[in-house]
Amino acid sequence: DSAAEQAEFDRKIAEEQKIEPTDWMPDDYRKNLIRQMSQHAHSEVIGMQPEGNWITRAPTLRRKAVLLAKVQDEAGHGLYLYSATETLGISRSELIDALQTGKAKYASIFNYPTLSWADVGAIGWLVDGAAIVNQISLQRTSYGPYSRAMIRICKEESFHQRQGYEIMYALAKGTPEQKQMAQDAMNRFWWPSLMMFGPHDSESAHSGRSMKWKIKRQSNDDLRQKFIDQTVPQIEVLGLEMPDPEIKWNEERGHYDSGEINWEEFYQVINGSGPCNHQRIKHHKAAHDNGEWVREAVRAYRAKQNQKAAE
Ligand code: 3HC
Repeated sequence: DSAAEQAEFDRKIAEEQKIEPTDWMPDDYRKNLIRQMSQHAHSEVIGMQPEGNWITRAPTLRRKAVLLAKVQDEAGHGLYLYSATETLGISRSELIDALQTGKAKYASIFNYPTLSWADVGAIGWLVDGAAIVNQISLQRTSYGPYSRAMIRICKEESFHQRQGYEIMYALAKGTPEQKQMAQDAMNRFWWPSLMMFGPHDSESAHSGRSMKWKIKRQSNDDLRQKFIDQTVPQIEVLGLEMPDPEIKWNEERGHYDSGEINWEEFYQVINGSGPCNHQRIKHHKAAHDNGEWVREAVRAYRAKQNQKAAE
């Protein structure tokens, strides 16, 4: 009965045992995972657009090959996470529909435009840097398929961050114009990167239950602080101006203090009115429709196989 099943579920969570697809789980645990994992997958797929914009414009063949490899990785991360989400009993077409109709979210950072080549560096360094801080923590999430997806994805992310930082370093140590490009890209991506960690813990709708179920292992603010503490020294190595004048080491706290995030902008962007929200969904729909013939071929092939098997 469900009291015994709930007790068994609670015991597994308490003993750090992974919950697997065929295990009993509370409906709300399942729903929360579908919400977070599908939005994580959507973020990986939509995230291909801002960077993809620069594959044909990369300054050298090497930069083009590296960026192409990274964007392909993001596609793979997305498909991996969609498959992990499907283990919770929802279909791929339902997930895609939720994205395309605006019912589901994706990381707000991808609703900002990539205006210069330096943005590709800032995204790899800051956006993937923030994603790594978040995903390393998520490796310990209680749902088996999500945890295993994170372990695999984290292996590829460090290359993403390193190639971004290398681009920023080359520009920051280049001509004055190049250094200005790097400064401008960092200034535009700094605050949206901090927003990737979500609202303050006190404002977070899901953190309480996500932490109880060990879906989320560290709080939004703790992970954000970890990201700031590791990134500020890198800005110093680049020799760029701090993107937030209030950044200052606080000996007592053992962390950097920093200014307040513009939460109005955050909610505006996650509720659909960021600079590129419409364009990102429009592009996704076009690409999805262009891929219809592949899905048709797969269906036809499967029907033929089933017919043969039935004969
Ligand atoms: N962008 C969009 N929506 C956001 C957001 C952001 N930056 N931060 C929070 N939200 C949304 C939440 O989804 C939630 O809305 P919902 O109820 O409609 O889902 C609402 O704001 C309240 O936030 P909460 O803190 O209550 O929500 P969570 O407990 O889910 O915490 C989170 C938010 C930390 C983003 C968590 O969902 C999470 O860890 N998700 C997985 C990480 C993820 O999605 N990362 C994207 C990385 S993809 C990427 O970076 C590709 C790169 O490699 C190129």
